[in-house]
Amino acid sequence: MILIIDFGSQYNQLIARRVREFHVYCQIDPPGVDIDHIKNLKPKGIILSGGPSSIYEKNSPKCDQRIFDLGIPVLGICYGMQFMVKALGGSVKRSQKREYGFAALNVKKHEGLFKGIGEKTDTWMSHGDSIEKLPRGFIIAASTENTRVAATVHRKKNLYGLQFHPEVHHTVRGKAMLRNFLFDVCGCKRTWTMKSFARDSISQIKETIQDKSVILGLSGGVDSSVTALLIHKAVGKNLTCIFVDNGLLRKDEAAKLKKTLKQHLRINIRFVSAKTNFLKALSNVTDPEKKRKIIGKIFMDVFEAEAKKIKGAEFLAQGTLYPDVIESQSAFGGPTSVIKSHHNVGGLPKNMKLKLVEPLRYLFKDEVRLLGKALGLDEDLIWRQPFPGPGLAIRIIGEITPKRLSILRDVDDILLDEIKNSGYYRKLWQSFAVLLPLKSVGVMGDQRTYENIAAVRAVTSIDAMTADWARLPHKLLGKISNRIINEVTGVNRVVYDISSKPPSTIEWE
Ligand code: XMP
Repeated sequence: MILIIDFGSQYNQLIARRVREFHVYCQIDPPGVDIDHIKNLKPKGIILSGGPSSIYEKNSPKCDQRIFDLGIPVLGICYGMQFMVKALGGSVKRSQKREYGFAALNVKKHEGLFKGIGEKTDTWMSHGDSIEKLPRGFIIAASTENTRVAATVHRKKNLYGLQFHPEVHHTVRGKAMLRNFLFDVCGCKRTWTMKSFARDSISQIKETIQDKSVILGLSGGVDSSVTALLIHKAVGKNLTCIFVDNGLLRKDEAAKLKKTLKQHLRINIRFVSAKTNFLKALSNVTDPEKKRKIIGKIFMDVFEAEAKKIKGAEFLAQGTLYPDVIESQSAFGGPTSVIKSHHNVGGLPKNMKLKLVEPLRYLFKDEVRLLGKALGLDEDLIWRQPFPGPGLAIRIIGEITPKRLSILRDVDDILLDEIKNSGYYRKLWQSFAVLLPLKSVGVMGDQRTYENIAAVRAVTSIDAMTADWARLPHKLLGKISNRIINEVTGVNRVVYDISSKPPSTIEWE
């Protein structure tokens, strides 16, 4: 395995992804991780991630410096490299010119990470500090126009540093550099697959739950369905799934899902209707974070009430994924900033009695789909587009009322119908409608109208960490707009969202 030490970069989960794409298991730990714990893990290599701090700030994150004496190869990326250099006696200074974006790298040492990379390659930089002086034994392996030490190596000790980010897509040969690190430098083997993940995960779940019972919030999305299958394989009838109709689902979704889930999962599912609880608590609430927190809390109240009815229920399972964890809080104690509170992570009450089981916590969506496949999950469930826990509440900007819910449901239903008919459904990460808290003037049949505006959002993405707006054909967009305005009373204007993530997010709230 490879150990990644999290210094708080928004990209550290991408490092994990890249390592796993090479079928090598990796784990992320906070900088404070104990040195004995590291020794016990017996990693083949250690990667120090980037981070937002400057090494000279008072509270900048630091890990135990003895990692450099374990005889294990270490790769420091950006802040990780600066930490390594400073810890081993070199120095770092504020750069004259900050370097963000593309930089052409001139490779000087064609070995180690740079074996087969060539003389020049595009890399992606994001730093304000640079290496001033290297510690003894380190040499410069590559430079850019603005950064003398863009890469460094201590050959004898197998210590490597990169000022740029090899994990991001924009570093053209980044994957090849990581591959060199994993296989040539660390001697890793490609043994980690979804089958092996499932096997390990099932035995871990068995060990955790033993003869107790576990309940799981089943939404019908791929994450909770895969979690259900995994836990069912581990504890069988000790798993009870709870499907909550929160009144914030898409048109006819609750009824359709009930049928599909019963048919395909063949596990113990309870269907609970809690529409009024949710809608009452949300009335007059317009702040996005408040909406999320309220919804998270009511979900928990419902689960806890259901758990009380189940003998020995001590655990709550959730299909939480890695991006949810990363964006809600720093997963590993690093200083990553909070973007929004995903309800299944940020909304949990502090005094919750149920213990959490989250077997997908470190997986990305595409990995979950592969896992679903390995577990034999139905294709339609595997390929369902993600739907957020807080549902339509975060797609109705402003106040949530039964009338606005009904309008959005009708708009969304037409959109989904057209997207499915056009063959785009599986090609898109998500496609959905948003109802704006604005009205605009229109003209219908010689009459003035003053009605709602609906926004259409369709994005492509691999893991929801980044996303691009989908270049849907104009003809399709035209048809969607035309149908919505003609068929949904109360909407007289449709706009298409052409923002990418970042800087926008996929959902509007
Ligand atoms: P954002 O809007 O943060 O969304 O770019 C990234 C992905 O996460 C989904 N999402 C959620 N999923 N609970 C969930 O289970 C939530 O609270 C939540 N908020 C956003 C979103 O639909 C997108 O796929």
